[in-house]
Amino acid sequence: MFENKHEQELIKRRTFAIISHPDAGKTTITEKMLLFGKAIHISGTIKGRKNGKYAKSDWMNIEKERGISVTTSVMQFTYKNILINLLDTPGHQDFSEDTYRILTAVDCCVVIIDAAKGIEERTRKLIEVTRIHSTPIITFINKLDRDSCDPISLLDEIEKDFKMHCIPITWPISCGKNFQGVYHIYDKTIHFYKHKIIKKKSYVIQDITNFSDSFVKESIGVDLSEYISKELELIINIYLKFNHKKFLEAMITPIFFGSALSNFGVDHLLNSIIQWAPSPLYRQSNKRRVNPQEKKFTGFVFKIQANMDLKHRDRIAFIRIVSGKYKKGMKLKHVRIKKYIIVSDAFSFLAGERILIKNAYPGDVIGLHNHGTIKIGDTFTEGEDIKFIGIPSFAPEIFRQIYLKNPLKQKQLKKGLMQLSEEGTVQVFRPIINNNLILGAIGMLQFDVVIERLKIEYNIDAIYEKVNIILARWIRSKNNDSINNFKKNYSSYLAYDNNNNLIYLSPSIANLNIVMTQHSDIFFDLTREQE
Ligand code: G4P
Repeated sequence: MFENKHEQELIKRRTFAIISHPDAGKTTITEKMLLFGKAIHISGTIKGRKNGKYAKSDWMNIEKERGISVTTSVMQFTYKNILINLLDTPGHQDFSEDTYRILTAVDCCVVIIDAAKGIEERTRKLIEVTRIHSTPIITFINKLDRDSCDPISLLDEIEKDFKMHCIPITWPISCGKNFQGVYHIYDKTIHFYKHKIIKKKSYVIQDITNFSDSFVKESIGVDLSEYISKELELIINIYLKFNHKKFLEAMITPIFFGSALSNFGVDHLLNSIIQWAPSPLYRQSNKRRVNPQEKKFTGFVFKIQANMDLKHRDRIAFIRIVSGKYKKGMKLKHVRIKKYIIVSDAFSFLAGERILIKNAYPGDVIGLHNHGTIKIGDTFTEGEDIKFIGIPSFAPEIFRQIYLKNPLKQKQLKKGLMQLSEEGTVQVFRPIINNNLILGAIGMLQFDVVIERLKIEYNIDAIYEKVNIILARWIRSKNNDSINNFKKNYSSYLAYDNNNNLIYLSPSIANLNIVMTQHSDIFFDLTREQE
């Protein structure tokens, strides 16, 4: 019985994240998806949240003042009988290491690209992170209602940057003021953007040379229908056909075009997610591969969110379930600290609302109250001693030195920073040649959060000073002598992280490149497994 029910729950689940450079349209698309899933009913709910009107967690002044959500939400909704877990990736000022780490907790990613801007810097970085787990990627090229880049050049750019073959599933018929819609290459259907004018939403067209049939000519114009017919012939010839296996292996990315603002093409994207995105996938642990079909519960923590209830210093640990089933009241082993806990108040999320749950399955994300004992990367099981791997720390990209206003509070500062680094808010480094404390983050806001939380939770006033560091890499070698020599020669660039791992803090790309070429026996790692 269990197997059947469990298998059914797996088959109907998809867990994914949307990634993009700010302003490409992630919020707009998320909102349209939630509307399709009937998880929200009014346009503007999510945008409103982004602008602060609907901010759910207002525990911190930063959130109130800036009207942004520092926290990550998980949205669960159903579309065509498929249960979708959409993990939000903080993108604007609240971009942080969490954004990277969330990508280790999903089974698929949707990448949004602004058709006029092409691939932007942040998208490139996020794509690199998806490479760690070879996560399959679906690409949506947005804002076709505006003047856009040539679609073939966009696809060239994607192939080069993503290192994947593009497989156009839909193809745009012009853009900007003249945008007519898309041709769905596999459904052989034109989907009209201006359907209110021509009174037909879609039109099946079996043979692309028939773009010159009278209805098409009438709808999109004679010249355009001839042009698009030739262009499509070319497209269909030059690009490979969609292949599900290659998609799952992240060798190819299906491409969709649309205009999220007008809710045009978002349904094509959602349909592709439910049709092609994988059901919950296995995860690798330090001892073995854990499959979602397994009967016993396992899961890992990929995010800790400091919560609104200051009185209780409440924190929420987000756990991605890997196998088995969560049942209210079950006993779980917190493997790192070797303790069992009875979990009776895990909750799930519905469009940002918290709901106490009775059951949850692989692919789902559950929230657990955490009173300071749970760390990012922790594993929970029904007793087995395993630790999931592949939920790393990422080398920070911005750095600050932290000072106390009252130097007598050094001990509290260290304690506070240790806690905040375990929650993944910031990384803390101790240079080997002095007693300074260097903080490293991925997004600027993390520094402000640290100052605010130190003040509120630990009663510590701290300030920052800039430091001459722009890059960091953890170093290791198979040879102890190499590391010892390196330590002697580069002591002023080296620091220890919270787990006493050595990290090289570099003032420039050139400096790092030179050091790396001079020390081929040393590994300079961009990520580090949680310990
Ligand atoms: P983000 O979450 O990726 O940062 O992007 P978001 O959805 O907030 O979209 C950024 C801006 O782009 C918004 O405009 C949004 O309305 C607009 N936009 C999104 N999709 C489309 C589209 O398909 N076509 C066009 N023309 N615009 C689109 P804004 O002026 O910054 O905000 P708002 O005043 O519309 O809320």
